[in-house]
Order: sequence, then C-alpha cells, then structure tokens
Amino acid sequence: MTMSGRPVAIFGKNGAGKTNILEAISLLAPGRGLRNAKSNEIARKPENLGWKVRALLKTTSQTYEIETFLEDSNSRYVRIDEKIQPQIELSKIYQMLWLSPSMDRLWTEGAEGRRKFLDRMTLNFVPQHGALSIKYQKLLRQRNRLLKDQVYDKNWYEALEEQMAIYGAGLNKNRLLTIEKIGKSFRNLNQAFPKASIALANNQDLDSTINVDDLVIAYRNNRQKEMAAGRTILGPHRIDMSAFYIDKNIPVSDCSTGEQKAILISIILANAWALIEHNGSPPILLLDEVTAHLDDDRRQKLHDEILHLNSQVFMTGTDQDLFASFGDLVDKFEVTEINNLSEIALKN
Ligand SMILES: Nc1ncnc2c1ncn2[C@@H]1O[C@H](COP(=O)(O)OP(=O)(O)OP(=O)(O)O)[C@@H](O)[C@H]1O
Ligand SMILES: [Mg+2]
Repeated sequence: MTMSGRPVAIFGKNGAGKTNILEAISLLAPGRGLRNAKSNEIARKPENLGWKVRALLKTTSQTYEIETFLEDSNSRYVRIDEKIQPQIELSKIYQMLWLSPSMDRLWTEGAEGRRKFLDRMTLNFVPQHGALSIKYQKLLRQRNRLLKDQVYDKNWYEALEEQMAIYGAGLNKNRLLTIEKIGKSFRNLNQAFPKASIALANNQDLDSTINVDDLVIAYRNNRQKEMAAGRTILGPHRIDMSAFYIDKNIPVSDCSTGEQKAILISIILANAWALIEHNGSPPILLLDEVTAHLDDDRRQKLHDEILHLNSQVFMTGTDQDLFASFGDLVDKFEVTEINNLSEIALKN
C-alpha cells in the first residue's frame, strides 16, 4: 500500500482483512499491537511460518526503512535503516495511537483496560515509562510471592518496598503528566465534539501514590492485610483512570454507547494534539471501526477533526459510504477476501 499522507479509509466486508492490516501497522510501534496478541501468536494459521512487517516512513525531513519480524519463534525484532534496534527506538521517530472495537467497553469493564490505555498514552510522552513499568512489575511479583508464601521477613519487605515506592511513584507521576497534557488539549477540538475531564482515580489518597515516602508507609501498613489476600492490593499497579462527561455532568460509564465511543475518540484526538505540542509532529492514528455507534452528525464532526489534525490516519469500515463526508480528501482502499487471502486495491 502506498499512502499520500492524507487520511486513509479502508473498507471491505466482514472478515476481509481490515483489522489485520491495522494490526500489521500497529506492530510498527513498540509493544503488542492493536490486538494485544503475543508475537508468536500473530502468524497466519495453520501454516505458522512467522511474520514480517515492512514500511517506508517519510517524515518532513527524512525517510526511514522500518522492519519488524518474528525470529527464534518467540522474539520480535525491529530493524531501522537495516540496523537492529530496541523497540523503544521506534517511538523516538514517531508515535502511534489506536482505537479498536474491543475498547468500546473500556468505561464499563475493569480498571485494567483503562490503566493499559493510559500507560500506552503515557509511553508516547515518556518513553522510559515502559522500562519503569517492567522494573516495578518484577518487584511486585517478588513481593506477591512473599505474601503468598506467608513469609514474614521484615528486611526483605523493606528492601523491596523501598524500590517499589520509587518506581511506583515515578509511574504515577508520568501518568499524571499525561492526563494533564491531554486535559489541556481538549481545547483544540471542535466545540461540538464531546469533552470529558479525565483523572487518575484511586481508592486511596492520590497524593500518596506519587510521593515515595507515603508509598513506603502504605506498603508497610498493608502488609498484614495483604498477606491474608496473598497479593499486593494497593499501589500504582492498581490505579484507575476516571472520565467525566462534562456536557451532561455524569461519569462516562453512565453514558450511552455512542457517547462513550465519542468520548474515547475525543481523548485520542486530544492526545494527538498534546503530542503535536509535545514534539512538533502529529502521531499516526489507527481507528478500527471508528464510526460504529456514531450518528451521522458525530461522524461528520469526526471527519472534520481528522482533517484538521493533519496526521496520517488509517480508518476502517465495512462500507465506503461511511467515509462519504471526506469527499475526495481521503485515500480509499478496498479489501477483498479471495480464497482465504486478502487483496487490497486503491479505489480513488
Ligand atoms: N492468525 C491468523 N491466521 C489465519 N487467519 C486469521 C488469523 N487472524 C485472523 N485471521 C482471519 O483473517 C480474516 C480477516 O480478519 P480481520 O479481523 O482482519 O477482518 P475484518 O475485515 O476486520 O472484519 P470485520 O469487518 O468483521 O471486523 C478473518 O477471517 C480472520 O478469522
Ligand atoms: Mg475488523
């Protein structure tokens, strides 16, 4: 596929391969990709011959050759201009944001999905956030092991908790920074697009989650209780993101399906604007089935917002009429499935 830089609309029947294309593009960003699949589960089944995604990316100043592929049956590698690099190097060149239909339930399901969503957004502003999270998780597993095995070694806990508090407070500071930047960027969106106020949410005092000393105390005070539970109940690994629909003055979880979707989209758009402000260039956006649940009016407004953003956007939908309000301003591709293989053709 060759894109001109204008928004891309990919349409085709159910099962044609639209989401597969977006997933392939999403693997050009660090992490697990749009379907949250493990690297060794992405290959075409039943052949299971591995996979590779290759892209030429043109920025205003440079062209990059990006490749990512599975090797050694488990590990995913990234090559930038023919040199193997850590995945995180990709986010130094460009950022990527996405929305998939599985996120439609983000506001009504458990905190984990919202935390992951927030962490992915945070990673775009603070690339070290991922490494910090891995370090924290490693210590958390060690502490959980002690709790589960009913080990009571005060020194052992103290050593772990001190480090956990440092990393954990860092995680929440990064998350707060991200929420603040996105919150400020809602002003860039058209008034008619729904606005939400988002916040870090917690069942404990929020200040104590970004202050190392307070976190140390919280871990210590909870040891007994958590030993009974066999795991660490409180801490930055349990943080949540709340959202409030400003126009109606209600939590987003109480909103209608279409309103929830529109709010999710507005967060992605605000995030994109915040990234423009943060590093001067817009992120690549992958919007799978983005107009599902949106009425005509909202769909039209979304299209206006996408054109206003001027970033490389990929959208999918089952029918090309869903993109009619773009007129000639999109690159349209049709995906068809023939004998179990997807074919893609430019339709402009
Ligand atoms: N690892 C895999 N190996 C083989 N086939 C797969 C694999 N993953 C997905 N598929 C198949 O690829 C086809 C295209 O899937 P995809 O999700 O891209 O469709 P889609 O065009 O997005 O459809 P929809 O409109 O329903 O969302 C499906 O038939 C799916 O079962
Ligand atoms: Mg799909």
